[in-house]
Amino acid sequence: MTRIFITRPIPDRGIRLLTDTFGPDAVIVAPNDLAITRDELLEGIRGADALLPILTDTVDATVMDAAGPQLKVIANYAVGFNNIDVAAATARGILVTNTPGVLTETTADLAWSLLMAAARRIGESERYLRAGLWKSWGPQLFLGVDVHGQTMGIYGMGRIGLAIAHRARGFGMRILYNDVNRLAPSSEVELGVVYADKPDFLAESDFISIHVPLLPETRHAFGEPEFRAMKKSAVLVNTSRGPVVDEAALARALKSGQIFAAGLDVYEDEPAVHPDLLECQNAVLVPHIGSATHETRSKMAHMAAQNIVARLKGQKPPNPVNPQVL
Ligand code: GLV
Ligand code: GLV
Repeated sequence: MTRIFITRPIPDRGIRLLTDTFGPDAVIVAPNDLAITRDELLEGIRGADALLPILTDTVDATVMDAAGPQLKVIANYAVGFNNIDVAAATARGILVTNTPGVLTETTADLAWSLLMAAARRIGESERYLRAGLWKSWGPQLFLGVDVHGQTMGIYGMGRIGLAIAHRARGFGMRILYNDVNRLAPSSEVELGVVYADKPDFLAESDFISIHVPLLPETRHAFGEPEFRAMKKSAVLVNTSRGPVVDEAALARALKSGQIFAAGLDVYEDEPAVHPDLLECQNAVLVPHIGSATHETRSKMAHMAAQNIVARLKGQKPPNPVNPQVL
C-alpha cells in the first residue's frame, strides 16, 4: 500500500487530494502542530513512498535511507529547498519538488509590509502607544524615512524580486537591482529597472530587499562591509533565508546607526533570534510568515500534493527541482 508521510498538519486541500487519490489510510500526518524531531522524522518516513516536509525539516541522506528504496518523491512545502540534500536525492533517483509561483505575490506583500513598517517605525510606535507612553501629538515624534520617490534596491531579481519591482513602481521609486544574472536590456526597459554592480547598488539604494536563495555564494552576502557601504538612512528587508544576512553584524549596524532600520522575516538559526537584534527597536521582526495567508498556504498544500500524485502515478510532476531523475 502507498504510504505518504506529511511532517506537520497542512491545509486540508492538500491532504484531501492525497486521500482522494490514494485512500485515507495512505496518508500519515504527524499528529502535533509542532516541528517534528529528527527521531520522529526517521521513524515516520520508514516505508514511505512520498515525503511532504516543511522547511524546518532537514532531509538528508540518512533520512532518505531510513525511508527505504521505495521513496520516490520529496515534495517540499516551500519554494526554498535548502533544507533538502538535493544531490543525495538525485543520486537515489528521488524526485524533489517545491512550490514556486503561488507564493510570489504573497511574499512580496510581506516584504513590502516590513519595508513600510521599518521606514515608518510602526513596530516601535505601536509598542509605545500600547505601553501608555503617548502623551501628545509631537512635531518630532517617531520621524521615519519616506518610501515614495526613493531608490529601491532589489537583491535577486527572480519572481519575488520582480513582484517587488512592480510594487516599487507604484510608489514612484527608482529601481536598482543586483543579481548574478542580468535581465535582457529590453526587459530592463520594460520593467523600469536598472542593473547596478554591488558597490553602486549598496551606495545608492535607500531600501534593499533580499530575494536570493540560500547558497554557499549567498551566505552572509550582507555583513559588516555591506552595512558600512550602505546609506545611514537605508532600510534592509530580508524575506529570503536568514543566513544571507550576518545577524550579529546587522545588530551592530542597527545599534550604531550605520543603517536606519531593518525588517526581517527570516533568521540564521530559526526559531532563535540573535539577542542583540531583539534589543534593536529599529528592527521589525516577524516569525517567517512570508507565505502565510489562507489562500497561499492552501495553494502550496495543493501544489505539493499534486507533485506527489503525479510522481507516484508515473506522470510528469509540475514542479521538479531535480528533473534529471525523471
Ligand atoms: C518559505 O520560506 C518558502 O521557501 O516557501
Ligand atoms: C520564488 O522565487 C517564487 O516566486 O516562487
